[in-house]
Amino acid sequence: MGQKASVHLTLLSLLLTLCWAQRLDPDPERPSCDRCDLHLSCDCSHCGFTCVPVVTDLALTLDLSLNNITEVTEDDLTGHRHLRALSLHGNRLAVIHPSAFESLGSLENLDLSNNQLTTLNHKWLGQLGALQQLNLLNNPYGSLASPSGFQGLVSLRRLLFGGPALEEIKRADLLGVTDLEELTVHANNISRYESGALADIWPLGRVTLSLHGPFLTNKALASAVLADVSYPNTPLVLEDLHLIGNETVLPFKEAAKRRIRSLSFQNSTISDEAFVGFLKTMDGVPLTFFSVEDTTLMGVGSWRPAESTDHASLEEVFVRNLVYSDFFEFVSSSHFWFLSSYPSKLSIIRAKVFVIPCLTSHLLVNLQYLDLSDNLLTDLTLKETLCKGDSPLKDVRVLNFSGNALRSLSLMSHLVEKLPKLTHLDVSRNIFSSMPQSCSWPHTLRHLNISRAKLSAVTQCLPTTLEVLDLSNNDLKSFPLFLPALRELHLSGNKFLSLPSGWLFPNLQTLAIQSNTLNMFGQSDLQSYRRLQGLQAGQNKFVCSCGFVHFLQSVLGGGGGVQITDREESYICDSPLSLQGEPVSQVNLSIVQCHQVLVVSVSCGVALCVALLVWFLLWRFHAFWYLSMIWAWLKAKRSSQRRRQRDGEATEALLRFDAFVSYSERDAGWVENYLVPELERPRENRQDPMNSPQPLTLCLHKRDFVPGHWILDNIMSSIEQSRRTIFVLSENFVQSDWCRYELDFSHFWLFDGNAGEEAAILILLEPLSKDDIPKRFCKLHKLMSSTTYLEWPQEEERCGEFWESLHKALRVQGQDDG
Ligand SMILES: *[C@@H]1O[C@H](CO)[C@@H](O)[C@H](O)[C@H]1NC(C)=O
Ligand SMILES: *[C@@H]1O[C@H](CO)[C@@H](O)[C@H](O)[C@H]1NC(C)=O
Ligand SMILES: *[C@@H]1O[C@H](CO)[C@@H](O)[C@H](O)[C@H]1NC(C)=O
Ligand SMILES: *[C@@H]1O[C@H](CO)[C@@H](O)[C@H](O)[C@H]1NC(C)=O
Ligand SMILES: *[C@@H]1O[C@H](CO)[C@@H](O)[C@H](O)[C@H]1NC(C)=O
Ligand SMILES: *[C@@H]1O[C@H](CO)[C@@H](O)[C@H](O)[C@H]1NC(C)=O
Repeated sequence: MGQKASVHLTLLSLLLTLCWAQRLDPDPERPSCDRCDLHLSCDCSHCGFTCVPVVTDLALTLDLSLNNITEVTEDDLTGHRHLRALSLHGNRLAVIHPSAFESLGSLENLDLSNNQLTTLNHKWLGQLGALQQLNLLNNPYGSLASPSGFQGLVSLRRLLFGGPALEEIKRADLLGVTDLEELTVHANNISRYESGALADIWPLGRVTLSLHGPFLTNKALASAVLADVSYPNTPLVLEDLHLIGNETVLPFKEAAKRRIRSLSFQNSTISDEAFVGFLKTMDGVPLTFFSVEDTTLMGVGSWRPAESTDHASLEEVFVRNLVYSDFFEFVSSSHFWFLSSYPSKLSIIRAKVFVIPCLTSHLLVNLQYLDLSDNLLTDLTLKETLCKGDSPLKDVRVLNFSGNALRSLSLMSHLVEKLPKLTHLDVSRNIFSSMPQSCSWPHTLRHLNISRAKLSAVTQCLPTTLEVLDLSNNDLKSFPLFLPALRELHLSGNKFLSLPSGWLFPNLQTLAIQSNTLNMFGQSDLQSYRRLQGLQAGQNKFVCSCGFVHFLQSVLGGGGGVQITDREESYICDSPLSLQGEPVSQVNLSIVQCHQVLVVSVSCGVALCVALLVWFLLWRFHAFWYLSMIWAWLKAKRSSQRRRQRDGEATEALLRFDAFVSYSERDAGWVENYLVPELERPRENRQDPMNSPQPLTLCLHKRDFVPGHWILDNIMSSIEQSRRTIFVLSENFVQSDWCRYELDFSHFWLFDGNAGEEAAILILLEPLSKDDIPKRFCKLHKLMSSTTYLEWPQEEERCGEFWESLHKALRVQGQDDG
């Protein structure tokens, strides 16, 4: 118990927090309510407010029902000049300030029902000139306001008043009230009625009276009331009557006298005796409509004493929700079918009818419309009801057997086949599970409703004369049937994966196919329906592809010739996952999502072009060459450092060669035939034998490189171990990669500080202008301008001079170094 209470408490506090959506409130005493929608309709019901909350002045409708408001003060509603509807239904309202509603000049609908108002004040309504509907039901006031509070209500069309405590109605109470569309009076406990009080309200559209007490105890009063509201053209509804004994129906004499045409009983109890009395009272009255709803029949239906009464004008009898005090007794001894020979329209709904005997059916000679929905008919009893297919209901146009227990569609078609005027047949909510291959229907059948059965396929059983066909809520997956006359087709709640082909329905105007498993549909699907105007296809499992979203948005926007007639919000994406749950109308697919192949191929193309361009630029500016140079140099440098650390600081000891010769392989001939012999085995100096040059040791890559070592390492260490580097420059040299490396290494070496400025000696083997050397060999350019270079003479006689200069260059510097 305690747990339950705490759950309630939690729910209540949750509700309170939800409702008291806090906003800065000018009046700290009053809570505020923000639950207004786009149409300025504010729903503040069920929020536990104990006083009128602060709501925006712009509100058009304000629902404060089912709160705990006890009072409306003078200021609570000031400023609500635009308010059209105000509901305070179901509060504990006991006090309303006389001028509380003064500013509500636009109010059309005021609901004060189910409160604690013990008195009504005529000042409340003084300013409500626009009021059309006023509900004052079920408050504990004993009388209406006098003088009349209704006098200023020139627009009033619907008035509801009264309650369990209403004791009297005086003529003055309703002064000024005329021309009502609807008057409802709850006067179950009324004891004083001033005759004529309701008589001035004329014309009256419809009157509903609860007169429980007067009918039981004060028939004169009940008669006086009925006399005042009974007009031939005013339908009269009487509620809560307890008609037991033939005395209780006496007041109907007044209604009969005034030739009332439409009478309904609701929520009443009627005995056989009272009903016989009622029929006798109404004998010969031109009553055309008679209805009984939510009523208990106390007797057993033995109405035979009234058999001779005349109700020839009765056109429609409507019976719904009957309860029998003794059903089986009623079934076995009832005698009432004489009544059914009059009406052309008979509805007996939810009244436990399981058969109309064939003999009785013969009485229903005028019948054009028969509604037996929500009863207990079965194949067997319907066979009896329709006389095994030989039914006397030759005039019947509409048959409604919805909500019974019929199983066989072929029997159904056979039973109605001979009804020559049948146009509408409603056999929905039965238990048909299959359709026979062929059926025989009357040629006149236009409307057929077999919804909410368990059909899994359609067959030729369906007649081609149909104009409206309802097969919703079955298990259908396809519709392969040609129905040339069909205008309306209802297929909602089935298992369709796609729209049925429109060629089958050349005249279809409306198609409802909601709540199926449609993935999508497109222009071509709709185009196959030549006459389609309205389509309802919401609540399906839409795959929101670009094509579909685009198409549906254009159709929703009014394009495509077909109008979507269900709610736009019911078109929801089911996939892809990223769009699941989103209304199709609000999906915004980007170009990237919609043209993926195109976007991918374009971006790939662009990327390829950029890559090509970059590659070209890199190639054009020899970046690869520079990179490989730097890489090689870094590597070689590291190994040289390692070597030096290993070998200690004795650099001098490392100098094994006098010179490293860097040359292109193509110039090997010159180097081997001229340079090496000359430097390593110098000739005698003819002029100055004493001063003959010393033999020098040269490092040639061909001869002196350590086999098996990386070639760059070899170059690096050779340059390191040599005092000088001789570059043999030629076209070939410039074109040889290795020579360029060597040049570069020596260059780096030069600037590493290990060798002097003059460590490089350039020999120009052939005339080579600076311009012949590619620009990127900036080192070479530099060297050529900073170092004097020796040119290998073209004339042989000048060779001696050349060698001398070379020796000198090597020697001088060699001595400096030494
Ligand atoms: C109104 O107040 C009563 C007693 O104060 C309480 O029992 C009831 O739950 C309240 N109703 C609402 C809707 O808050
Ligand atoms: C009905 O009216 C009587 C007086 O006529 C009164 O005593 C009684 O309380 C009323 N019943 C209700 C439910 O108000
Ligand atoms: C039906 O009538 C009875 C009195 O006969 C009344 O007590 C009850 O509240 C009424 N029910 C409805 C739903 O009006
Ligand atoms: C009511 O029924 C009794 C017999 O049960 C009968 O004597 C009496 O005349 C009837 N009253 C009316 C008004 O029909
Ligand atoms: C048949 O009765 C059902 C339920 O009362 C109703 O929904 C349906 O509209 C009726 N059909 C016709 C054709 O009147
Ligand atoms: C068919 O019957 C169902 C259930 O009674 C009803 O809701 C529906 O409106 C009917 N269809 C048509 C087209 O009247």
